[in-house]
Amino acid sequence: MVPLPGRETDAAQTFGSAIASQNPIKVVAGAMAYEVDRGWTRAGRAHTCEGAFRHGERVGSPPSSREVFGCEFGLRRLLYDAYMTDIVDPAIEAYAEAHTTAPPDLLEAVASETRATLNAPGMMVGRIEGRFLELLVFGTGAVSILEIGTFSGYSALAMAAGLVPGGSIVTCEIDPVHAGIARRHIAASPYADRIEVMVGPALDTLASLPGPFDLVFIDADKSGYLAYFEAVLAKLSPRGLIVADNTLWSGRILDPTDTSADTLALRAFNDKVATDPRVVAVQTTVRDGVTMIRRAG
Ligand SMILES: C[S@@+](CC[C@H](N)C(=O)[O-])C[C@H]1O[C@@H](n2cnc3c(N)ncnc32)[C@H](O)[C@@H]1O
Repeated sequence: MVPLPGRETDAAQTFGSAIASQNPIKVVAGAMAYEVDRGWTRAGRAHTCEGAFRHGERVGSPPSSREVFGCEFGLRRLLYDAYMTDIVDPAIEAYAEAHTTAPPDLLEAVASETRATLNAPGMMVGRIEGRFLELLVFGTGAVSILEIGTFSGYSALAMAAGLVPGGSIVTCEIDPVHAGIARRHIAASPYADRIEVMVGPALDTLASLPGPFDLVFIDADKSGYLAYFEAVLAKLSPRGLIVADNTLWSGRILDPTDTSADTLALRAFNDKVATDPRVVAVQTTVRDGVTMIRRAG
């Protein structure tokens, strides 16, 4: 990975100009960043994706078909570290981010290590959704929190900042490398006594946890969302909330040509929670789509 220059500066401008001058553009990114994504977004839309460009210059070989899932979405997805695309207008997102309390140093440390060492750092919830989760935890007074999908610990640490004294978070992670990074940052944080990382397939871990949970954050493999929903609904406290991330899936949820397993799984999940009489749900457009669910009645 080649580090990119600063935020929305030369990389974004160069990239934006390259895109503006090549329409239909033939660009797919290798190592890219959010800032560049914004540059592209301002510059226009891509129609074909072919080869890999960096700073407007072709580098590397064409991406895999998994990476390019449809160029209009695909370029932006790749520019955002091959994982995430804004569904909110980037200028609005940037404004919202600038008007959200800055993350503490400990979260900046998680984010910078994640960007430097892990694939798909865009999986971190980031500043807006991190604060959103923190405020949900704070406002609901959730005492017992379950997270499915730890990654490097950003969201768990963000939620911990909103916990009442005596509250705790159990977070499930299948990848021992991710869990190791998260554990290290948690150990260095003021929340070491409140967050437990459990390694293994989340459904197995869940089976060993009695609950009840006041807040459950689902943010792991998308194909598991329906099973996670069923498993955690049974263990949700009467006024508990289930919060599911990425439910708009970079807008692919609406792309009729996208029949990938993850997209189908998220559509099934979204359809289920909107019609299941056991629950009341709201689909929000926070970041990549955050669905909040409570028990009905
Ligand atoms: C989107 S990331 C989580 C991001 C994290 N919530 C944050 O904001 O920093 C998803 C994580 O779920 C983990 N994961 C995937 N499948 C899993 C499973 N079956 N059980 C537990 N964790 C899983 C992945 O290894 C990855 O670290």
